[in-house]
Amino acid sequence: MVSFMKKQNELKKMVAVEAMSFVKNIISKKNIIGVGTGSTVDYFIEELSHFKENFLGAVASSKRTELLLSKHGIKLFDLNELTELEVYIDGADEVDYSLSMIKGGGGALTREKIIASVSKEFICIADESKLAENNLGKFPLPVEVIPMATSVVSRFFMDLGGSPILRKNFVTDNGNYILDIHNFKIENSVDMEKNINNIPGVVTCGLFAIRGADKLIMATSRSGIKYFGK
Ligand code: 5RP
Repeated sequence: MVSFMKKQNELKKMVAVEAMSFVKNIISKKNIIGVGTGSTVDYFIEELSHFKENFLGAVASSKRTELLLSKHGIKLFDLNELTELEVYIDGADEVDYSLSMIKGGGGALTREKIIASVSKEFICIADESKLAENNLGKFPLPVEVIPMATSVVSRFFMDLGGSPILRKNFVTDNGNYILDIHNFKIENSVDMEKNINNIPGVVTCGLFAIRGADKLIMATSRSGIKYFGK
């Protein structure tokens, strides 16, 4: 387990370095970059900090990312000041070949989905363990819920065959709870995302299929870096 984690962290770092060398060729000094959340993105932020003069600043998808960006002296922007972003870089918990994803393992799914919606290009960075060969759903689906709706929403998922578990001792940056839906079969991810979005009390679900990634940069132990998508 320890050596798997070590290997995985090496791959996360590898993909972060590659993503930076890709991103630095598509950004200009007037661009503001969308930055996601998670350990892979933490490595990316470190890379980004070496190229501060190449872009104007960043919009963060979480308080955790805000802190790290500030620590590195990267200027933060409020999304309300902007209409669109050139590029958004974020990790995933699971990603399939159509570049639909499950996200929200770090609980930042709502802000991530908002930033993704205004970004011209969404680049997902991941190590090979995140690739879903078939349907998404091995990783329990995170769903952000309004606290008073926790039971109502749980019952909806139980009726759909899932096993919701309330994430312990966790409150999102927006003051809400996360239900992690285990044993949940996801066949048509776009329709499923639309259906979940319609459940009263759901703020955001961690399925990113309606707006998936445009590009996946993936680090593999056998074949190095692989690019998928546009
Ligand atoms: C956070 C996310 C992350 O992108 C996802 O959890 C992957 O994290 P990591 O890079 O630590 O494996 O969706 O809400």
